[in-house]
Amino acid sequence: MRLLLAITGASGVQLGFKALELLPPDVTPYLILSDHAETVRRHERAKVFEDSDIAAPVASGSFPIDAMMVAPCSMNTLAKIACGIADNLVTRAAAVAIKERRTLLLAPREMPFSPIALENMLKLSRLGVVIAPPVMGYYAEHDSVEAMERFVVGKWFDMLGIGHDLYQRWRIEEA
Ligand SMILES: Cc1cc2nc3c(=O)[nH]c(=O)nc-3n(C[C@H](O)[C@H](O)[C@H](O)COP(=O)(O)O)c2cc1C
Repeated sequence: MRLLLAITGASGVQLGFKALELLPPDVTPYLILSDHAETVRRHERAKVFEDSDIAAPVASGSFPIDAMMVAPCSMNTLAKIACGIADNLVTRAAAVAIKERRTLLLAPREMPFSPIALENMLKLSRLGVVIAPPVMGYYAEHDSVEAMERFVVGKWFDMLGIGHDLYQRWRIEEA
């Protein structure tokens, strides 16, 4: 599977990198850092594209991506995607994912959400975009930040069809 992961300038940038770190070896990652997430660009595993590189291969629908996730997704990027604005590589790749009917997951990070952000999320959700903010689950025993992050990343992977064993599923042993 090829996964395009975009990291934008919301707090929780480390969660995006955590997802990258935890990807199983059968997933090939491609990474876009928005200019505002640029502080954290030290990853060797993924092919990294500049957000300003609008001519990058992943800007085209002909590039065979199976899924895209934007994690964290800033309200700025969320709004642009909801309006069809494609003025940088993150928003262009997201527009492509929507037009090509590919899986697109956004992890909006803000607290609280404004009505504008909520409307943008609803609009995108109705178009089939997965809106999956980093919300903690309390049914598993999370005794550390690491365990909570693994839970959130595990939920994202569930939505993307990526196999993992990052969190304890609810009463799985009884099934
Ligand atoms: C320290 C800091 C934290 C921020 N946290 C958030 C956040 O959690 N959510 C958000 O939507 N924007 C946040 N912002 C604002 C975005 O970085 C800003 O809107 C930026 O234009 C987003 O650009 P991008 O969408 O291209 O990454 C934060 C900015 C700073 C400086």
